[in-house]
Amino acid sequence: MKKSCLASALLLLAGLVSCNSAREAVTVETYSLSSPDGTLQMEFTLDDEGVARYSLTADGTPILNPGRLGFELRGTVKAREIDFDDPALPKSDSSPCYFFDRDFVVTGTDTCSFDETWSPVWGEESSIRNHYNELLVHLVQKETSRLLDIRFRLFDDGLGFRYEFPQGGDLVYFVIKEELTEFAMASDYTAWWIPGDFDSQEYEYEVCRLSEIEANFMNNMRGNDSQTFFSKSGVQTSLQMKGDEGYYVNIHEAALVDYPCMHLLVDGKTHTLRSFLTPDAQGWKGYMQTPCNTPWRTVQVARSATQQLASRLVLNLNEPCAIEDVSWIHPVKYMGVWWEMIAGAGSWSYTDVPSVKLGSIDYSQSEPHGRHSANNDNVRKYIDFAAEHGFDAVLVEGWNIGWEDWANCSKDYVFDFVTPYPDFDIDALNAYAHSKGLRLVMHHETSSSVRNYERHLEKAYSLMNEYGYDAVKSGYVGDILPRGEHHYGQWMVNHYLYAVTEAARHHVMVNAHEAVRPTGLCRTYPNLIGNESAMGTEYQAFGGIQPKHTTILPFTRLNGGPMDYTPGIFEQNLKEWCGNDSHVNATIANQLGLYVTMYSPLQMAADTPEHYSRFMDAFQFIKDVAVDWEESRYLCAEPGDYVIIARKAKGTGEWFCGGVTDENAREFDIPLGFLPEGTFTAKVYADAPDAHYLTNPQAYSITEQTVSSADSLHVRMAPGGGFAISFEACK
Ligand code: NOJ
Ligand code: CA
Repeated sequence: MKKSCLASALLLLAGLVSCNSAREAVTVETYSLSSPDGTLQMEFTLDDEGVARYSLTADGTPILNPGRLGFELRGTVKAREIDFDDPALPKSDSSPCYFFDRDFVVTGTDTCSFDETWSPVWGEESSIRNHYNELLVHLVQKETSRLLDIRFRLFDDGLGFRYEFPQGGDLVYFVIKEELTEFAMASDYTAWWIPGDFDSQEYEYEVCRLSEIEANFMNNMRGNDSQTFFSKSGVQTSLQMKGDEGYYVNIHEAALVDYPCMHLLVDGKTHTLRSFLTPDAQGWKGYMQTPCNTPWRTVQVARSATQQLASRLVLNLNEPCAIEDVSWIHPVKYMGVWWEMIAGAGSWSYTDVPSVKLGSIDYSQSEPHGRHSANNDNVRKYIDFAAEHGFDAVLVEGWNIGWEDWANCSKDYVFDFVTPYPDFDIDALNAYAHSKGLRLVMHHETSSSVRNYERHLEKAYSLMNEYGYDAVKSGYVGDILPRGEHHYGQWMVNHYLYAVTEAARHHVMVNAHEAVRPTGLCRTYPNLIGNESAMGTEYQAFGGIQPKHTTILPFTRLNGGPMDYTPGIFEQNLKEWCGNDSHVNATIANQLGLYVTMYSPLQMAADTPEHYSRFMDAFQFIKDVAVDWEESRYLCAEPGDYVIIARKAKGTGEWFCGGVTDENAREFDIPLGFLPEGTFTAKVYADAPDAHYLTNPQAYSITEQTVSSADSLHVRMAPGGGFAISFEACK
């Protein structure tokens, strides 16, 4: 690790150079910072009204025009503390507020350079370089004497900055009405976006110019409510964009801790995006006490789509691992009693009768309604199949009482997370799984009754310890209790992290569905091995997903951390199996490609043993593919079109390659230069010539050929298709 002061090299002022770290007024107005390789440049300025602005260029091309920085805070400029006396806390609209975004003077600056290489516990590569130049600007607002620091870190692949509120000034406790950060895009970029909902990220992506988002939103997204919805929430991050000059720019955030999730309001005329924080039940945004800071705001800049996929900026802006002993954290390949319920062939609940209060149903007197999937025989069937094929774990959903009246009943005491249904023998099934060398994965659907979950968390994790579960899938379906809170507000952001840190105390790994989208916190808490936080495979059973979806997710949702996408569906026709009309819009070869293109240390083979049994030769790839990587090569990609990635497995050194395409067929010659010396048997799982995601999704071919690093492999992907390749060294 290297940290050094580079005051005069980095900090070029309009007329003056400063290397002050003292808080004394200086008379300069513009400060510049270069990335380590010099290609990115940013400027910080204070205008005539004392408004702080920053801009960014790449190779001299404007990326961000000067954008405003600051806040609107609750209270009055004179008040030292916020007045909480009013028992009916007024809505933010009617409360006195003041602007903390003007009238600033710079009292000093600090600069430094940082260079380290660190090793994640699991990841897309085994070592990551964290190299940046930093500028810290100290500001004071003249009228209030309140202090604000802004810390900028400029990497070769983008900019990170955050606000820091130092202790010791006039500002102690304060409430944020709004963060006013602007990202003033220099031109009318094309964006891949989903609407700025405060409770769901489960949308398909729209693609259009920034100037077209508003109209597009009105037409497609929300019917009569769309205008209000648009002006109140905008679009979500991670927002992937592409400019006419060829730059790929991505706006997101890193290290979202004790603060609400940021959405972006879109001004289509000026191409300016402005932060819009998720409100709490009162309409306020963040409750703060100095010293404190916001998450990092990130602006990644890449010259190609593959460079964007290789960026580690979001992880680098997170704190190092906070867990001392990580020996119990490990990647997991799993199957689950899951898809049959999602697709309607089974159910989570044991009876159809609502329980007046939890446990009030006498299950010993009632027969299951016949479709309760988490029963002993069915679970044993999954354990047998998963063990036979070398999986690490089996997830079982619907094992515990309470499902009779879960989501959207607004019921507080809905689950206790410890009482199994009578046909799920928790003791015997865990013993059976362990005897076969695998573990069960716990399931905690909270039904978004979050205080209830926190009340039971200690007992729930202790139960897991007692029976030998080391991973939990949690879920947050429905409206949040306490009522009025949102999934992405500060209160819930704190809850998700609480659940992860408490889990770490119990040596439990967490995979949270419907939680706030990841911001790289898995670097600090690597027991957070997965999140859903986007539209996943389940939507194939809820009406289908367009094939392009999985060519966009690596640029957006996966920018913050791995996704439990749950790939591997081999039977696309859900009608034949369970009467559901949905069709899985992907070929079998596409589903195999996802194990490489959708990085996750937690990978599910989501289909059923019966369906896999019909295609054992294709299933072999799911058995073989690694889930933790030493190295990743992003070979060809374009958001919304295709993604092709090669990865080297950690430990074994074996290479795998995967690709997926949108609704268009595509052909590529893949240079194999990533292979080490020697010859390899490339086993290619490809779409058959007549494969098509709608009409012929199960048509695939498996071929073998001997290759070396000097060769290229020709692959063709069908509409909605893909491919997967495993490389085995020739003896
Ligand atoms: C939604 C989750 O995404 C899904 O995986 C889960 O099975 C259900 N909720 C029930 O918890
Ligand atoms: Ca979900």
